[in-house]
Amino acid sequence: MNIGSVIMSKRKELGYTQQILADKLNVSFQAVSKWENGTNYPETDMLPMLASVLGTSIDSLLGYQSFVVSDYDKRYEAADYYWGMIPNHLCYEIMKLRPPVKPLKVLDIGCGEGKDAVFLARNGYLVTAFDLSETGIAKAKKLAEKCGVYVEFFKADIVDFRLTECYDIIFSSGVFHFIRPEIRKDITENLKEYTNKNGIHTINVFVDKPFVEVPPDKNTNRFRWTSGELFTFYHDWKLHKTEEIIFDCNSGGIPHQHCMDIMIAERMQ
Ligand SMILES: C[S@@+](CC[C@H](N)C(=O)[O-])C[C@H]1O[C@@H](n2cnc3c(N)ncnc32)[C@H](O)[C@@H]1O
Repeated sequence: MNIGSVIMSKRKELGYTQQILADKLNVSFQAVSKWENGTNYPETDMLPMLASVLGTSIDSLLGYQSFVVSDYDKRYEAADYYWGMIPNHLCYEIMKLRPPVKPLKVLDIGCGEGKDAVFLARNGYLVTAFDLSETGIAKAKKLAEKCGVYVEFFKADIVDFRLTECYDIIFSSGVFHFIRPEIRKDITENLKEYTNKNGIHTINVFVDKPFVEVPPDKNTNRFRWTSGELFTFYHDWKLHKTEEIIFDCNSGGIPHQHCMDIMIAERMQ
């Protein structure tokens, strides 16, 4: 698809007229019309704003599809829950920092089979969660049903996904290494922009360390971050936690180690 058709289809998905989109971008509706019928193209410096308003990525606007297919689908096919049922310890930190004494909206990015999303919903949060794996999402929905809670689960690719509504808490565990370096700023800026004041981001990410050997089962669609890189994206937020851990792993049957950065940051203004 060319950029004009992508703009038109995303605009229609959002229910915007050409005038509404034009107003949001501070351009004339004629400009939008020309983009859509292919007689003109948006300026390059307009693309980030255009992608954000249309709730998509620059890659998608330009017609690139994500080639990342979740290799977790296979692992999630088993009846057992691949990651078990014990909630991530960061869920308890969320509960300490932002107890659910009023309706708080949570987004779980890369929720897998939904154990953390369901745990947070059971504790009174209003949870939305997505993952690239359809099998994971199907299991997550079953888990929520079994536990008698509602979670808005859906399949999406973090590469394309852009927020257009605000959350109080954004949580993501073991997922950000699927984001290529060149789109990290775009993605984190969008997540930050759509976070309510005093909202928090609770994120961990695998990072590179020169003395920690590359895991034997390293996959090509993983892009480990530079140590400390995640924290730099949040220099303008209050950092409640910035921790780096090295832990043992036995995936692939060969003992090795991983290094992970863990962050809890709060939007102050
Ligand atoms: C290490 S697992 C973590 C799952 C879950 N957060 C947990 O801790 O149980 C990584 C998850 O990221 C998902 N994932 C991989 N690439 C993704 C992408 N591009 N967009 C969304 N999710 C993705 C995988 O399907 C998988 O469920």
